[in-house]
Amino acid sequence: MNNTINNSIKRRKFVLIGAGHVGSHAGYALAAQGLAEEIVFIDIDEKKAFSQALDIFDSTVYLPHRVEVKAGNYSDIDDADIMVVCAGPLPNMNQTRMDTLGATIEVMKDIIWKIKNTKFNGIIINISNPADVITHYIQNKLNYDPKRIISTSTTLDSARLRRAISEAINIDQKSIYAYALGEHGESQMVAWSTVTIAGKPLFELMKEKEKYSKLDLNELANKGRRGGWEVLGGKGSTEFGIGTSLAEVARAVLSDEHRVLPVSVYLNGEYGQTDVYASVPAVLGRDGVEEIIELNMNDEEKKLFNASCEVMKKNYELALKM
Ligand code: 2OP
Repeated sequence: MNNTINNSIKRRKFVLIGAGHVGSHAGYALAAQGLAEEIVFIDIDEKKAFSQALDIFDSTVYLPHRVEVKAGNYSDIDDADIMVVCAGPLPNMNQTRMDTLGATIEVMKDIIWKIKNTKFNGIIINISNPADVITHYIQNKLNYDPKRIISTSTTLDSARLRRAISEAINIDQKSIYAYALGEHGESQMVAWSTVTIAGKPLFELMKEKEKYSKLDLNELANKGRRGGWEVLGGKGSTEFGIGTSLAEVARAVLSDEHRVLPVSVYLNGEYGQTDVYASVPAVLGRDGVEEIIELNMNDEEKKLFNASCEVMKKNYELALKM
């Protein structure tokens, strides 16, 4: 036996940059679901990072999994498996997520500079809004392998969309396959021709049964799109939905699930799009994006998807000039 070799099993380590509403709920979801063994919060407000970490750590006494939760600094990133970027302003009720671009870029400049000085080579999951554009910006500035940096993006909008469909047809969300695609924002769209229940296309069900034929698809898509504002309007923040969406994406990566989720990925020819981050169904595993699934959209859906990509491209160009 060679006693000099360190054979100890590595802990599943997450670093969360940003300890606000989103970061704290993401951290709690990771702890409660037993996905992390170590969670480090980094925030310019060090006291807040410390308090959020302590609050979550207190809860672990009564959680089934042991997890160390603490506040730290950028040197903690070196050996992390997953870095979650969740810093920057929340939109207010009169703003779109895209309206927060300038303010978020200012925050990102400092964060990116600090990440550059670390040895981190894990998977980056960005949540900061406007999520798709910010993910592209971070990828560019870090010159990071695009397969290893993604955004939760419309994972959350898809949950809201499935909630809206579920309410309309009285079938549980989990039995409905429907994705919001494109931007985690106003230009997101739903490829209704690809929506299925029990493997059966919704369009077929709409032809066969009154219950489905009565559906107002635009209204449902809009409910999904506006879902964040319904939450924001009453409590001033959105947090549980995004925290759990983050945990879902993180689990797919960390547990090498090869799971399909609608996340924002770098498109390089897929869907006829290049050099843009947009949400599409992607297979996620230990090395990040393993495959991008190209849905067969109809012409009208393709137009909407392309229009959404144009919004991201235009704003990404703006971001690079900021
Ligand atoms: C959300 O959709 C505001 O992006 C945030 O909950």
